[in-house]
Amino acid sequence: WGKTGHRATGAIAQKYLNKKARKAVAELLDGESLALVSTYADEIKSDKQYRSYGPWHYVNVPFETTYDKHEPSDRGDLITGIDKCIEILKSDDASKEIKAFHLRLLVHLVGDLHQPMHTGLSEDKGGNDFQVQWYNDGTNLHSVWDTRMIESYGMSYTELADNADRISKKERKAMAAGTHREWMEDSRDLVKDIYRNTNKGDKLGYRYMYDYMDILRDQLQKGGVRLAALLNDVLG
Ligand code: ADE
Ligand code: ZN
Ligand code: ZN
Repeated sequence: WGKTGHRATGAIAQKYLNKKARKAVAELLDGESLALVSTYADEIKSDKQYRSYGPWHYVNVPFETTYDKHEPSDRGDLITGIDKCIEILKSDDASKEIKAFHLRLLVHLVGDLHQPMHTGLSEDKGGNDFQVQWYNDGTNLHSVWDTRMIESYGMSYTELADNADRISKKERKAMAAGTHREWMEDSRDLVKDIYRNTNKGDKLGYRYMYDYMDILRDQLQKGGVRLAALLNDVLG
């Protein structure tokens, strides 16, 4: 996601932290909110020192196989990145600084896990090399999902987060079930459908919003609720 998607995910998660996790998060982040730190992993991307974290933002598995059967990337991916963040946050001997760094990354990565194109194909870099038009602008399918649809929708991240309140506790609980490996499968199912329904050079816009905006919002909601569940489990 871009900034708005990540912030919405962080803001939704913040609402559903339990008391103990909320306190642990506040301590590690010196009072900064999950929404605020959610974009940190993108802010450090261009810094040479942090280049090794680049591959943590996505996971590319050919559609005809499964994550467990595919050849893992030795540079790490979205799943092993989340594994690493959890491991550090649970460890007794990591410093506060290291834990805070990995918490910032984790908030971002759980967001990206819910952006379907971040589980897309390596051939087109998750849609980055899949050129399309968004209304009258030339762009790519990855950007349509990271930012363009959200921009056209016109809601702020707080509006998106407030909207997410409308589901019941029972629905939230069902949403939060499972592991990040299972959550990835929701995104993989969606990205398969997205590739099936989109051709290179397509002019996307009004009709595309009609078809996919509810799905996008549902993914933001799931990202937030699941991030909270994960943090409640790890820090709560
Ligand atoms: N962003 C950069 N490279 C990517 C890839 N291969 N898949 C998804 N998102 C990406
Ligand atoms: Zn992206
Ligand atoms: Zn990212």
